[in-house]
Amino acid sequence: MSNNIFLQTKSLCRVFSETGERLEILKGIDFELLKNELCVLTGASGSGKSTFLNLVGALDTPTSGEIIFEGKNIQKMTSKEKDEYHSKKVGFVFQFHHLLSEFTAVENVCVPARIANPFEDLKKIREHAEELLVTVGLGDRLKHLPNELSGGERQRVAVARALMNGPDIIFADEPSGNLDEKNAKMLNELFKKLNEEFNQTLLVVTHDERMAEYATRRVHMRGGVIVPFDSKEAL
Ligand SMILES: Nc1ncnc2c1ncn2[C@@H]1O[C@H](COP(=O)(O)OP(=O)(O)O)[C@@H](O)[C@H]1O
Ligand SMILES: [Mg+2]
Repeated sequence: MSNNIFLQTKSLCRVFSETGERLEILKGIDFELLKNELCVLTGASGSGKSTFLNLVGALDTPTSGEIIFEGKNIQKMTSKEKDEYHSKKVGFVFQFHHLLSEFTAVENVCVPARIANPFEDLKKIREHAEELLVTVGLGDRLKHLPNELSGGERQRVAVARALMNGPDIIFADEPSGNLDEKNAKMLNELFKKLNEEFNQTLLVVTHDERMAEYATRRVHMRGGVIVPFDSKEAL
């Protein structure tokens, strides 16, 4: 395996049968995410994009198939290794920011580091959080509470929080889904900057065609598998 591959899935399947009905959503996904890619995943609503991100983020367990991160099968990781994968190797940005409403922007960004490194010097953690908020363009909003920020600013705090523990990969699930055009553009440009200037690897699920313009590669979910994006095909 090329060591340029960060994440790989082999014949990944997810069947939901909890409701009694058997729903075969992911039908054998073979996918590779390379280092320094900004890969954009599109696909119709309900096609299984979130299901896929939840699996590769180890938030859910596949019915069959393999997920390999840096040569290691995620399902075979010990619980300690899985915790480390969750807290340090990957970062998530969702459609809803999930910020803690009683915490300021900088305190929210500190949370993942406080959890992953409870004994680390708080001042150091805070300084790093402040740097990240400057990176995402919110150096002048450090002490704002989530309800004192715009929707776009809240999403950028969520991006800073996802970056806090220096993840190898950022997974974003329709991150601009709730934003107006101007804020969506700022978020797209932020992802591009993270990718180009900081070599951040990202896998972004989006319906936003302008985000897709920034992609280093585009893929598409259809019929339970991921295929290369074909612009001639209707989305
Ligand atoms: N926990 C679950 N139980 C049953 N069905 C589910 C569950 N999660 C998702 N699904 C179904 O799987 C399909 C894909 O969902 P999802 O991955 O959220 O799609 P997308 O993110 O592409 O819109 C949908 O039809 C959805 O109803
Ligand atoms: Mg979804």
